[in-house]
Amino acid sequence: MTNENVDAANQPVVPPNEGPASKESDTRYYMRFSVPQRYLHGILAITFVGLALTGLPLRFSNTRVAQGFASAVGGFGTILFFHLFNAVVMSLVFLAHLANVAYRVVARKEYGLLWGPNSMIPRLKDIQDFFGNLRWFLFLGPKPKFDRYAYWDKFDYWAVFWGMAIIGFSGYAMWFAPFFARFIPGSWLNIALLIHGEEALLAVGFIFTIHFFNTHLRPGNFPMDPAIFSGRLTEKELQHKHPEEYKRLVESGELEKIRVAAPPVWLRNFGWVFGTALILGGFVLIALTVVAFVKE
Ligand code: HEM
Repeated sequence: MTNENVDAANQPVVPPNEGPASKESDTRYYMRFSVPQRYLHGILAITFVGLALTGLPLRFSNTRVAQGFASAVGGFGTILFFHLFNAVVMSLVFLAHLANVAYRVVARKEYGLLWGPNSMIPRLKDIQDFFGNLRWFLFLGPKPKFDRYAYWDKFDYWAVFWGMAIIGFSGYAMWFAPFFARFIPGSWLNIALLIHGEEALLAVGFIFTIHFFNTHLRPGNFPMDPAIFSGRLTEKELQHKHPEEYKRLVESGELEKIRVAAPPVWLRNFGWVFGTALILGGFVLIALTVVAFVKE
């Protein structure tokens, strides 16, 4: 039991699917993301915005906004320096995530990470949920009962995963061009620049619209889902957003093991300020990108 469990009172757990539950289900909290997971996501978010903020002026260096930004911070060389600094930190986050997954699977034998309801690997239920959700949008069926990760969570995860691998690999190829030129034709490095720039635009467009909508702006979560900052969900949220997971946790008796205290006020406020800054920063960057892209 963690320190966060300290004020877990002996209140009875509301059975699954009992509808809008008691008042307590709004005040009983359960752990969704661990502290290291929240840190990694936070650093990933900061470095991603940092890379977009520094990469986009390099990509659109002919625009007045980019040139004004460059002269304010000391030139395009300075921008590239901060781009590479953010790139190194983001790469470390990526490697830390891979190492953590490998450790949990190999050393702790948590095979559930590779397959099943707690895995990010897509399964048949995700396809069924996708079509079920389309039917629900059209008033043709009930809302699917999502598990720990809905199909859009997995889509976002894999989009970022492969995006980072492609952008990262092409970025390092350019950064250490003489080294890579020993193994690949020099013209491939020009292609690396093209891939890097286009994939980066895709990533910026994806994260600042689809990922933000899926996680924060969609009905039910709007204006923000603070769970990624506080790490917790209320029982009511768990019941409504992840009914299959909730049911499983109740039936297996695991639910009480992930019971935690309500997030402290400072953490709630921090989540709102940090999240709002990221979302607004993303919107500004995507608006500038669209304008620069259309004018190009
Ligand atoms: C490990 C990660 C990364 C590394 C090592 C890296 C490295 C680089 C390097 C060396 C350049 C300069 C290329 C030149 O000499 O002109 C560059 C440009 C750029 N980077 Fe990255 N980068 C990384 C991640 C990202 C990410 C995540 C984004 C987007 C959010 C991004 C967006 C850009 C853009 C838009 C350019 C300008 C491309 C162009 O001029 O067409 N980078 N990056």
